[in-house]
Order: sequence, then structure tokens, then C-alpha cells
Amino acid sequence: MNLLRTKPVEDALDSTSGLRRELTAFDLMMLGVGAIIGAGIFVLTGISAATHAGPAVVLSFVVAGIACACAALSYAELAASVGGCGSAYGYGYAGLGEFPGWLMGWMLLAEYAIAVAAVAVGWSGYLANGLHTIGIDLPPLLLNGPFDAQTPGLINLPAALLLTFLGILIASGAKVSARVNMVIVFVKIAAILLFLVVAIPHIDISHWRPFIPPVEVDAHGESRFGIMGIFSGAAIVFFAYIGFDAVSTSAEETRNPQRDLPRGIIGSLVICTVLYIAVSGVLTGIVDYKDLDVPSPVTHALLDIGQSWAAGLVSIGAIAGLTTVCLVMYFALTRLVFAICRDGLLPHALAHVNRKTGTPTRIILVVGVVMVSLAGLVPLDNLAHLVNIATLTAFCVVCAGVIALRRTRRDLARPFKVPLYPLTPAMGIAICLWLMANLPGVTWIAFTLWMALGLTIYFAYSYSHSNLARQNLP
Ligand code: ALA
Repeated sequence: MNLLRTKPVEDALDSTSGLRRELTAFDLMMLGVGAIIGAGIFVLTGISAATHAGPAVVLSFVVAGIACACAALSYAELAASVGGCGSAYGYGYAGLGEFPGWLMGWMLLAEYAIAVAAVAVGWSGYLANGLHTIGIDLPPLLLNGPFDAQTPGLINLPAALLLTFLGILIASGAKVSARVNMVIVFVKIAAILLFLVVAIPHIDISHWRPFIPPVEVDAHGESRFGIMGIFSGAAIVFFAYIGFDAVSTSAEETRNPQRDLPRGIIGSLVICTVLYIAVSGVLTGIVDYKDLDVPSPVTHALLDIGQSWAAGLVSIGAIAGLTTVCLVMYFALTRLVFAICRDGLLPHALAHVNRKTGTPTRIILVVGVVMVSLAGLVPLDNLAHLVNIATLTAFCVVCAGVIALRRTRRDLARPFKVPLYPLTPAMGIAICLWLMANLPGVTWIAFTLWMALGLTIYFAYSYSHSNLARQNLP
């Protein structure tokens, strides 16, 4: 058995997949912001401040931001030098070998699929709340799938309809998807700026004192707040940053990928980091952080300072945010599956590009049926923490991939190079491992089960059906 057989890096670079190259650096940056800003900033900021870090949640955002910056720079180097729509799966395949590449792809599948299904369910909840405030109540049977633990119903219809609509959009073309994404991204950025403008005059600096609340021990004997609270808070708000990596899956649809992918990946992360630090600082400045452990803390805080009109508008921004997270992650999921099928590790016949739309419509259809069923029937929002661990692992591998390829392929053209090499990727690995260690035990169990399923599929199918196996390549 050769688990480390590798696909030549040049294969990915020369890839003439038939996907239509029509995206610009600006499109990529907007796709990044579309994937990044969502449930994280609108929900987790409050929870993390109230239960882990207090006003120092701003520093949690800085810590998570540094980890993501190291990963983003590494992604940028590999996206520009290796490329390919398989993103970290493709870099792992070329840099480390088929088996590590597959494990990487399998983790990214978990990241994107669970993020899409969980965010669609969250979107449905926001929509139902919004409709309720204007006097329209959707029947409970159509708001929950049959496996919902608290109120089982028939299907989560809004979530299923959202994903059906997004699937059709993605199948229509990358440029159309990018345009729709851009319009919705403007709505959500406008909502965040509105929050800042309305809230800043209400800041009361006494809310920031003490900035790092003293350590407390809760009823379960676990300590929170203090310096360590900043780090455990960072492991939670890390979710808010996830998404810039999805940009790299559009490598084969970008006009000038070697120049524009680094711009899209790093640019979107910079925009979001600035907004996150501003929002978390202002949020903890206008209300007591202890009051923020609620499902929609940003809206809650605006209501608290008597700005109900702004609260309504920010809720619309939150729905817009969740929509683009679903759209871009769903886009990334289809491109990743396309890359895996093209390599033969999943059925090769699916890796077909529709000539009219320039998109992988067969895969979009298959992935769409699975995703609509998952979001409509299974309450996957409980698995959202699995997204963090899968993404952190991916970030570690991408940072390691930079180091591995710099050693084994010195000759490779690198239009973008990670600054402060090898400090940056090494720091990325260290911080991501540390954040992983801060995740709850149940997340690790779910992660192990998911990996076991991945191993089974690899040895039962992928190993023998891989293009490399069929070409008898070592
Ligand atoms: N970063 C994305 C969000 O916060 C996943 O919803």
C-alpha cells in the first residue's frame, strides 16, 4: 500500500477543468466577507463576553484573529503556488500525499457541510422570529425536522427552501452567485456600521471596568474569566472568522488566481477583523457584559439603549449575514467535492462541468439533495462545534503544507510568500493546536467518529478508485 502517493503540484496549476474563469479580486474579497460575517459576530460575541472573557472578548477576537492571519497567509501562499479548487485538500494531496490529502478533504467536507446546514437552521429561526414580530406565525410543524429534540415537526421548510434557492443560484454560474453575494454583503456591512454609529454615543466606559474580570469558579467547579478566559473565549469566537478559506476553492474560476487569491483571502480577513474588534468593543461598552448571554446579543443591546428601530434593521442585517455564509460555504462545498471526484476518490462520473453554465451541475444536484435533506430534517446546529475543530485541523495542515513544500519543492514559483517564514506558519500551527485543546471533550468524540467514517470510505473505495491507482502510479 502506498498511502503517500502524490499528485504532481503542476497538475493542479495546469488544471483545465472547464469551470468558467470570471471572478475578480474584488469578487473574491466579497465572497470572503460573505462567508465570514454571520452567526459568529451576531451571536457568539455576546455569549463569549458573558461567560468567558467579559469586555476582554475584544482580546479573544485579537487572539483568534492572529491564528487566522497566520493561516490566511499560508492559504494565500499555497493558493497562489499550488492552486486548484480543492483548496487545502489539493495542497495536502500535492504536498503530503493522497491519504493525508483525503483526510484533509474529509475534514473540509465536515466544515462546509455542517456550517451550511447549521447556519441554514439558524437562518430559519431568525426568519421565523422576524415574521412573528410583524404578526405572521409559520406553523410549528414546518419549522422543525422530525429529529428535533424539543419540538419535533415535519420539516424545517424555510431552511430547506433557502438551500434549494441557493443551490439553483450556484448552478447558474459563479459570476451570478458572486453578484448576488455582493448585494447581500453590502446589506450586512451596512447593518454593522449602523450598529456602530448608533451605539458609540451610548458607550459608558464604566462597563469596561474591570476590562479582564477576575477569575470566577462556576457551579460545575470550572473557572472562567481572568487571562485564561480570553483564550477559551478565543476558541469560541474563532467560529466567527471561519470562511476566508472558502475563497481558495474558487481558484479555477478566478481570472488571475495567482495575483487575486492572496488579495481576496487576506483582504476579506482584514475587513472582518477590523469590524469584529469594533463591534465587540462597542457591544461591551454599551451594556453590562453579564447581560449578553442571549440568543441575539447585538439586537438585545440596542433594545437596552432604547434604539428599537436600529435593532429591527440590524436583525435584517443578521439574516443577510447568515444567507451569504450559507451561499459561499455551499459554493465551496460543491467545488471541494468536484475536486475530490475529479481525482477519483469519490465517483469520477460526477466531476462533470455543464458547458452552458460553466458549473459542476451534477455535483451541485447531488450535494444539494443531501444538504436540503440534512437542513430540513436533522437539527445539525448541535454539531456546529465540529466545524471549529475541522477548520482548526485544516489550518494546521495548511501551515504545515507551506513548510513541507518550501523544503521539498524549492523550485516552485511562489507569486505570494508568507512573510516572516517559518515563524508565521509555525505560530499558526501552535495557536490552532492550542485552540483545539480548548474545545470541549464531546467535540473530540464527534471528530473521532467523523474521521473513522472517513477512513472506512477511503479504504473501501477511494484507495482503489483513485486516478493514481488506476494509472498505477507510485
Ligand atoms: N464565520 C461564519 C459565521 O460566523 C461561519 O457564521
